[in-house]
Amino acid sequence: MRTRSKYRKSTNLCCNSWSRCCTPAVLWSLIGCLLLLHLYSYILHEDRDGRLSQLHVTHHPQFRELQQLEDEDVQIPPPRGKRSPRAAKRRPKRAAGNDSNYYYPGRIWLDTDGNPIQAHGGGILYDKGSRTYYWYGEYKDGPTYHVHKEGPARVDIIGVGCYSSKDLWTWKHEGIVLAAEETDETHDLHKSNVLERPKVIYNEKTGKYVMWMHVDDGNYTKAAVGVAISDTPDGPFDYLGSQRPHGCESRDMTVFKDEDGMAYLIYSSEDNSELHIGPLTEDYLNVTPTMRRILVGQHREAPALFKHRGTYYMITSGCTGWAPNEALAHAADSVLGPWETIGNPCIVGNNMFRLTTFFAQSTFVLPLPGFQGLFIFMADRWNPADLRDSRYVWLPLVVAGPVDQPLEYTFEFPLWSRVSIYWHRKWRLPQGWTGLKLFM
Ligand code: DGJ
Repeated sequence: MRTRSKYRKSTNLCCNSWSRCCTPAVLWSLIGCLLLLHLYSYILHEDRDGRLSQLHVTHHPQFRELQQLEDEDVQIPPPRGKRSPRAAKRRPKRAAGNDSNYYYPGRIWLDTDGNPIQAHGGGILYDKGSRTYYWYGEYKDGPTYHVHKEGPARVDIIGVGCYSSKDLWTWKHEGIVLAAEETDETHDLHKSNVLERPKVIYNEKTGKYVMWMHVDDGNYTKAAVGVAISDTPDGPFDYLGSQRPHGCESRDMTVFKDEDGMAYLIYSSEDNSELHIGPLTEDYLNVTPTMRRILVGQHREAPALFKHRGTYYMITSGCTGWAPNEALAHAADSVLGPWETIGNPCIVGNNMFRLTTFFAQSTFVLPLPGFQGLFIFMADRWNPADLRDSRYVWLPLVVAGPVDQPLEYTFEFPLWSRVSIYWHRKWRLPQGWTGLKLFM
């Protein structure tokens, strides 16, 4: 009994001493386990939010398809003016194959009424309220002519065309949301002038849709920006006036709205030899005095700016009128610069296509919510013989992988990702795109 009790006692003693010395150890192990679990779930979470979406653009079969190198026989159809009158009269057909939801870059693209879309030099606004995309651009459905024999081909201003879509493929014509002035010759938008590259952004603070555009005279000597405003995305927009921003010439331009709500105007200036960038006022109706000169001496135009994982990227073209030339991609840690050139983003077997941006010129880059690193590159394939018959070249743009050339000045390889625009005769948005409206 004594022994037993002793035993018991010793057991109890042992237990007591065990619990005295082991409780903290158990507690610490538990805490350690909890910490490990937390760390594991954090990594998993990171993986979901970051790496999985990154996976989308690099390993998923559908993305691999979008990133394939495609060869192309260069077969640009003769401009309308050069076709037989019979062929020119023929009603334009929807892109061959008639496969729904496929993009056919460079082919005629019809709206839901069966008319060719007129939204050249345009850009897209996603309207969160109505969960609808609005595509604005130059409505050029008029005759092309030259004021002077040597002057550029032109179409009189008709206005800004607007189209709406839920899926980025079927587009309903919403009408001309900013129209030309027919009679007052002193008006910026008199039909004899120039209205190009309209872009619309929404101001959360004022609840207004604000349109910025390049306005000019027929000889491109006015070199100014115009602003218009509307309560609704489908207009009508009221024209507020024009200015030379920061007292400088402004031709090809775009606006970019950052995640923090700040918006910026980017424009070609100093005879198109450099770009200027500066923040807009809170209401987006004016520029502020801040302005930075970027890509100085590089002669770039047609800027299209976008952001990926905290880095700003921009695609630009060279300055060769309506003729296509080589696109370049640029990157910056801060929107005001410094901006570095990171090379030609066009990926295609045919070198002629690569050096002419697929016979097109940049106008806008649209992010696809839910697919990190995947964007739509929007460009215009101008037809100077018949500008209304200019076509749209929309292609997948992917930001991923290391840049393949060193920086111009330091010769170091930057940490930014490569920007790649892949040529496809025919392509469509990744499956599940429609389901991804949830993300928007
Ligand atoms: C190139 C510009 O990018 C176009 O928007 C247009 O202004 C043409 N020049 C006119 O030649």
